[in-house]
Amino acid sequence: MSMLRVENLRKAYHIGGEHQPVFDALSFRIGPGEIVALLGESGSGKTTLLNLMSGIDSPDAGSVWFDGISLHQLQEPDRTLLRRERIGFVFQFFNLIPTLTVGENVALPLELLGRKAGEARTHAVAALDEVGLARMEGRYPETLSGGEQQRAAIARALVHRPGVLLADEPTGNLDENTGRGVIGLLTTLARRGGTTMLLVTHSDLVADAADRVLHLRQGRIAGS
Ligand SMILES: Nc1ncnc2c1ncn2[C@@H]1O[C@H](COP(=O)(O)OP(=O)(O)O)[C@@H](O)[C@H]1O
Ligand SMILES: [Mg+2]
Repeated sequence: MSMLRVENLRKAYHIGGEHQPVFDALSFRIGPGEIVALLGESGSGKTTLLNLMSGIDSPDAGSVWFDGISLHQLQEPDRTLLRRERIGFVFQFFNLIPTLTVGENVALPLELLGRKAGEARTHAVAALDEVGLARMEGRYPETLSGGEQQRAAIARALVHRPGVLLADEPTGNLDENTGRGVIGLLTTLARRGGTTMLLVTHSDLVADAADRVLHLRQGRIAGS
């Protein structure tokens, strides 16, 4: 089980010569297998934080630790490998590749890790089964409902058994009932797999499902 630590993270954007700070000394930790919800209004810096935590973007200062590894001290190829091996992502707009079938979408993380096609497919089918989408393997994403697409995205996020799952407003594009189902599925699968999860959202729908709730407000973290 993975442990995550964010330490004195600072990030600002520079647009047209203007300096726009997002946060300047953000610190928190997530214990192994813990499910933490991070609530913050639109524009509070949630996506920026997730991009820093996954190594897609670099901070101006501070560090992100995956167990004993300092993410931004790694060279780019190692950082990419860590991301592919150890992190799963779920996004607001599902981000399934429209030209690939649902099964191919779910198999993709394994293929990027160099697994053989047959093995990747077997795991993809099992992951789809876990999210209640057995037999949807050959369909294209556009033929699925929003809730089904998000369940396929959850299968893709977990197919390689990552230690950490990062979810960016996973219910933001779903109606309330479907969103509730998606949160239930995410938390059930994370607990079953011992996956450490950070669930970022502006909705308090998810707060009940989490072990702990943090609030991101004016560049600061508050909460238990
Ligand atoms: N690539 C970018 N360039 C410049 N400013 C950005 C960029 N991404 C986000 N921002 C700004 O940073 C702030 C935080 O954005 P974001 O992390 O997307 O917030 P959230 O995900 O909580 O809605 C916002 O004011 C936004 O306009
Ligand atoms: Mg966002």
